[in-house]
Amino acid sequence: MRATVRKYTSRPVSDELLNSLLEKASHTQTMGNLQLYSVIVTRDEAMKERLAPAHFSQPMVTGAPVVLTFCADFRRTTDWAQNRQGHPGYDNFLSYQNALTDALLFCQCFCDLAESEGLGLCFLGTTVYNPQLIIDTLRLPALTFPVATITLGWPDETPQPSDRLPLEAFVHRETYSPYSSERIDAIYAYKESLPENQHFVEINGKDTLAQVFTDIRYTAEANRAMSITLDEAIRRQGFQGDVLLGKRNPRPESLECDIVRFQNKKDRWVAFVGLLNGRPYEIFTGILDDDEGIMIPKSVSNGHILRRVLKDGSRRYDFQFVNKRGYKITIEGLSERFNPEYWNYAKLISGILRYGMPMENVIALISSLQLDSDNMNTWVSGVAKALKRYLPSGGSDADVSQTVEDNDE
Ligand SMILES: Cc1cc2nc3c(=O)[nH]c(=O)nc-3n(C[C@H](O)[C@H](O)[C@H](O)COP(=O)(O)O)c2cc1C
Repeated sequence: MRATVRKYTSRPVSDELLNSLLEKASHTQTMGNLQLYSVIVTRDEAMKERLAPAHFSQPMVTGAPVVLTFCADFRRTTDWAQNRQGHPGYDNFLSYQNALTDALLFCQCFCDLAESEGLGLCFLGTTVYNPQLIIDTLRLPALTFPVATITLGWPDETPQPSDRLPLEAFVHRETYSPYSSERIDAIYAYKESLPENQHFVEINGKDTLAQVFTDIRYTAEANRAMSITLDEAIRRQGFQGDVLLGKRNPRPESLECDIVRFQNKKDRWVAFVGLLNGRPYEIFTGILDDDEGIMIPKSVSNGHILRRVLKDGSRRYDFQFVNKRGYKITIEGLSERFNPEYWNYAKLISGILRYGMPMENVIALISSLQLDSDNMNTWVSGVAKALKRYLPSGGSDADVSQTVEDNDE
């Protein structure tokens, strides 16, 4: 039975053997037969030294004759397509996921083949903990990403196979069966009874093996922090193209729009929430008033926001609704009708909405704004309430409907 090997002899791994294993592994399944992966072979000692810190200086990196970094790779396919009048669009998260899958399958296939030749290897998950250092060291271009590292060599140790959970722990028949505490006890009994694991618990000063994992080895804080660095690196490599390149979905000339009315102290307010694919894309708010603000019939709860580019290049936003008789009514110049201070804040909020920040974060951000005047602060809380209905959960928008009712009275 196989086991991870972390110590290697000085016997070299020939290029011939390595190439033959990599070639055989390339026959593993791959999306569209595109082979969305690359592998960087590191033999140079200085290069291993440079890579080691990315792997928390685990000794296998400098101790193995060969280090392989498997990368998700949409670069080559994109270059190919661009050279052949294709129209590649792989600067997005789905493409990252596809290339990741391809790269890991290729890597696993290589591992099986290498181990069956008698080679020893260790998979280093640290690759995705410190990806930027690896990207810089190996000069990985946009649309590539390191996803796995293998240290490889002829074994200088014969490790015992490690334990595994019983089949019932991870095989579900027809539908997923939840884990009752009795099932958890049964599944983990053997693992928890192993002397090496009991020793592990003891030397770490913990009560349970699970605590060693959650409180020491893979803590919530470290995972969350590394998750942010990983996300940033994935974006930097171009796999969240819209955000990275400052591009976003182009705004159609006409956007569907919900009208949310709310009470701000004594004043009745209205928010026009422009929607793209059902998600808030922009927001205009102001006082609902004939003389100074905007007046729309009570019965109107939606319509369209039209963006017009004027001759001088400036933009104007109009609101259009269909009245009870079926006529289209247009209220011109939404922006000019509102107090410039509200308008400017609304512009900032619209900017955040357009770039896809999750709705709960948008609301938390707006709610945390500390503005100068009471009026601005109540305005801010009204906007936050207006947006709550767009939370994925539907929000607990009792507050919103309350303010709507207040107004309609
Ligand atoms: C995603 C992943 C990350 C891993 N990261 C490391 C690592 O950074 N260092 C290490 O020594 N082993 C690493 N390993 C190897 C595991 O520790 C090893 O596979 C596991 O303990 C089971 O032991 P076995 O492979 O000998 O059966 C990793 C394995 C996987 C699949």
